[in-house]
Amino acid sequence: MRRESMKQTYLDHAATTPCYPEVVDEVTRQLLNNFGNPSSLHSLGVSARATLDSARASVAADLGCDSSEIVFTSGGSESNNLALRGTAHAHQYAGRHIVTTAFEHESVLKTCEALQAEGFEISLAPVNGKGIVQLDELLRLLRPDTILVSVMHANNEVGAIQPIAEITRAVKKFRPDIFIHTDAVQTVGHVPVDIRELGVDLLTLTAHKFGGPKGIGALYTRRGVRIEHQIAGGHQEHNLRSGTESVALAAGMATALRLSMRDQDQRAAAWRKMRDSLLAAILSAVSDARVNGDYIDRLPTNLNISFLGVSGEDMVLRLDRRGIQASSGSACGAGHGALSHVLAAMNVPRAWAKGALRLTLGEGCRDMDQSYVVEQIKAVVAELRSTSSFRSNGLLLTHQ
Ligand SMILES: Cc1ncc(COP(=O)(O)O)c(C=O)c1O
Repeated sequence: MRRESMKQTYLDHAATTPCYPEVVDEVTRQLLNNFGNPSSLHSLGVSARATLDSARASVAADLGCDSSEIVFTSGGSESNNLALRGTAHAHQYAGRHIVTTAFEHESVLKTCEALQAEGFEISLAPVNGKGIVQLDELLRLLRPDTILVSVMHANNEVGAIQPIAEITRAVKKFRPDIFIHTDAVQTVGHVPVDIRELGVDLLTLTAHKFGGPKGIGALYTRRGVRIEHQIAGGHQEHNLRSGTESVALAAGMATALRLSMRDQDQRAAAWRKMRDSLLAAILSAVSDARVNGDYIDRLPTNLNISFLGVSGEDMVLRLDRRGIQASSGSACGAGHGALSHVLAAMNVPRAWAKGALRLTLGEGCRDMDQSYVVEQIKAVVAELRSTSSFRSNGLLLTHQ
């Protein structure tokens, strides 16, 4: 069947989301009519500055913080880099120890590796089999020279939501001057995120995960928290991120965040219902399948299922040929053939981790034909199992 005539079902919203049409209109309007540099003194600059300020105020209001605490960046990876390197470099004389978890996004883990090469010490807090950080174990890692704890708000592969407010309270009780960062890329716009309630010092978000454009994100930096800039140059973004600001993308991000928070509870309930029904249908259609990650403390849009005897990547490619876009883990881990570091951290056995499929719901699958999706998954699993060493009694002849 030609792709154009095939039914398309986008089930990869954790990788990225389609832009709201209102966001496309807003970005286009700003690009066409408001192209000034916000640092220019003339009227076009003043107009661009006003739009940027109002986008910042809108994002801050939606997150429950002050606009002076929002630094626009190019996205989640940059915000994570700025949070970790910025804190480490600004506070290295107070201590050189950082605590994070084994199942963070690569932009946190790779930044930690780079900081380790600079002489910082990194400790990884374990997560349990459901993908939830173990608070007691994390607290045991804290030391007199710990300067930063970074734990993601929800995991991008299994959607497990972490007890950030609890972690913050416990860490601050141990020592109030330890900074707390959370990567909230997967939660902002999807579930309520109130920065003051979480109590964190730094929080990462990115627009393309909640219906905004790619190439813009933000780092919330609590007032009074000192971090060192990572891009030198001009004075932009409270001297924390040099470079002419993208006014159009900032306006698009503010519009997307506002839209994603409209009727958030009702929409979350609708996604949860759709997700639960999809899961039940898949489990009754396909044998030897199981859910990865906690099913209660979980993003309503996330489903991560493992099928024995298949490779998740093969499934993704074959499902795409049938008009269904999914992923086998995180988008940035795709195509490398390596098993998910998230599932490894959760101690998911290799044979199960290999066959993981992530289906994430959102505006791009509102009209999903569930029986079509389930039929295709069933067919693809059967195809792949027929060419592997899997036997229908549920046993794998070889564990690879
Ligand atoms: C948890 C998490 N953090 C950070 C990022 C990186 O965000 P960006 O693509 O905006 O750099 C992602 C994107 O996949 C993510 O899922």
